[in-house]
Amino acid sequence: MNSVLIVKNLEKYYKNKGSLTKAVDHISFEVEKGEFIGIMGASGSGKTTLLNCISTIDAATAGHIYVNAQDVTQLADSKLAKFRREQLGFIFQDFNLLDTLNGRDNIALALAVIGEHPSLIDQKVEAVAADLGISEILNKYPYEISGGQKQRIACARAMVTNPSLILADEPTGALDSKSAAMLLDSFRIMNEEKGATILMVTHDAFTASHCSRILFIKDGQIFSELVRGRDSRKAFFDKILNVVALLGGDSHHVI
Ligand SMILES: Nc1ncnc2c1ncn2[C@@H]1O[C@H](COP(=O)(O)OP(=O)(O)OP(=O)(O)O)[C@@H](O)[C@H]1O
Ligand SMILES: [Mg+2]
Repeated sequence: MNSVLIVKNLEKYYKNKGSLTKAVDHISFEVEKGEFIGIMGASGSGKTTLLNCISTIDAATAGHIYVNAQDVTQLADSKLAKFRREQLGFIFQDFNLLDTLNGRDNIALALAVIGEHPSLIDQKVEAVAADLGISEILNKYPYEISGGQKQRIACARAMVTNPSLILADEPTGALDSKSAAMLLDSFRIMNEEKGATILMVTHDAFTASHCSRILFIKDGQIFSELVRGRDSRKAFFDKILNVVALLGGDSHHVI
């Protein structure tokens, strides 16, 4: 089996004062190694809930999630932190860097917590920083760098452990268009040159047009799927806009 991720009949329901929200309602899909998958859908459609179930931050109500053939819905609580540290990389909208550490140490920390040998940590951090073109900002603290630079440090932190799957929730959400374009170049390097498998939630059609495949979610279900294939990025972008128009909802988020 070459699938890094298999999601099978996933359901996540929230009960609130007698009412039931089906945030994820029977979702199934597979992700092959090296794919760059986008997840799109209106606000409240269940994108973050889906990501949180895959990352084991939230427990599924029913269904199964296999990461490298291991069913993570069956993992004991005591094994979850180790699973996340070793198998997953995370990139959030608001960066989640530690303010008291410089860029180098923010990245190094990801290696330290999985028990990487200290003599290898420095060279691995240097290598990933060179790949992403951030070597010259490694000694700066988060308050000394721009949002776009912070997000590229976060990318380095996510990929330095060579995880099976990188999960990103609105990574360009807090960036201006120039920083977003630079970040997307970092994603391209992670994906095409380093073979990282990426699952990225985004509202933004331009950001999504860099993916190899997009799943559109509506009311907790998969509404549609687009594969880029041989399309140019612009042709793919136009197709995405068409599906987004069909989906309706928050089109103001899209461009
Ligand atoms: N902890 C929670 N308790 C109750 N309901 C929740 C909880 N988390 C999410 N929901 C509900 O589940 C649905 C899906 O929410 P989710 O955050 O997954 O949407 P989303 O697609 O990520 O939206 P956005 O684009 O605004 O981030 C919404 O109706 C939301 O109100
Ligand atoms: Mg969300």
